[in-house]
Amino acid sequence: MILPTTNYNPQFDVTRASHVVLTVADISKSLEFYQEVIGLILTERDGKTAYLRGLEEDSHHSLTLELADSTGPQCSQLGFRVRDDEHIERAAHFFENAGLALSWVEVPHQRRTLRVRDPQGVPLEFCSGMTVQLRLHSRVDRHRGGCALRFDHTQVAVPDVRVAAEFYASFGFMISDFSYTPKGDMTSAFMHRKDNPHDIVFGSRRGPRLHHLAYVAEAQNLFRAGDVAASLGMARRVEFGPSRHGQDHAPFIYFRDPDGHRVELLGHPIQIMHFESEPIGRDVTDRAQFAPWGQLAPQEWLAEASTFPGEEVSEPVVPRTW
Ligand SMILES: [Fe+2]
Repeated sequence: MILPTTNYNPQFDVTRASHVVLTVADISKSLEFYQEVIGLILTERDGKTAYLRGLEEDSHHSLTLELADSTGPQCSQLGFRVRDDEHIERAAHFFENAGLALSWVEVPHQRRTLRVRDPQGVPLEFCSGMTVQLRLHSRVDRHRGGCALRFDHTQVAVPDVRVAAEFYASFGFMISDFSYTPKGDMTSAFMHRKDNPHDIVFGSRRGPRLHHLAYVAEAQNLFRAGDVAASLGMARRVEFGPSRHGQDHAPFIYFRDPDGHRVELLGHPIQIMHFESEPIGRDVTDRAQFAPWGQLAPQEWLAEASTFPGEEVSEPVVPRTW
């Protein structure tokens, strides 16, 4: 299969996936889940917004919860960091040349911030810096539930995985893993800028929709998160796992938050540190490659996801028949 070609000298430097903005029906209810079960730290809260971060993170926030309007809970932004102010200017030129409408916005605690929607309607937010906070990884008295350490990636359901992979590869994203049908159609693409297999993952499903956001945690704390959820009357918020991924061999557990947004805690993934690393392809019908042991994903994990504001959802061009 001919894969999309990564531009190894992109016009601007995306350093990593950095944050997500979710809208929620009840901020206090969501905070109980994210602080006590997932283990995030509340950096700051005002009436309609709460900013959270992982224990290792010194950036002001990696998850922003905003009170939902009449459209209901959705995912409003997927955030990425670029190297500095010069690179965010270069990003603006790149997206303008690609024919995409962009806007500059003021976001509290963020340096220059640019918003654009990708060709399939995924809302992206690039920023050149954030207010710095204390890292709390050694403040064990503040650790709760799954003790989420740092934001890692999102997975996005899109109608056309190849279109997504080609677009992100054009500004430097590398493919670590991909899957394909027996006919040779791409069904997923794991893409990264930092030194592990994923900053953003695309799956061939009805979309565009946010499938999940993911935080890294110590493996033993995945079980602890499930135990805490059960103790707090949230046992059914555990959707899938604990189990182990095939691609990055990381242990995982998936939760649904009070609004149905899906959150993954995963153990430390492998590192990918060199440009010569080749993408690894997997036959999508070989389920053992995706879940080496344990249960396969439940139907709701395959079918349900969070919508993006104002975006119509379309069927995938490669139908799911596996
Ligand atoms: Fe994930």
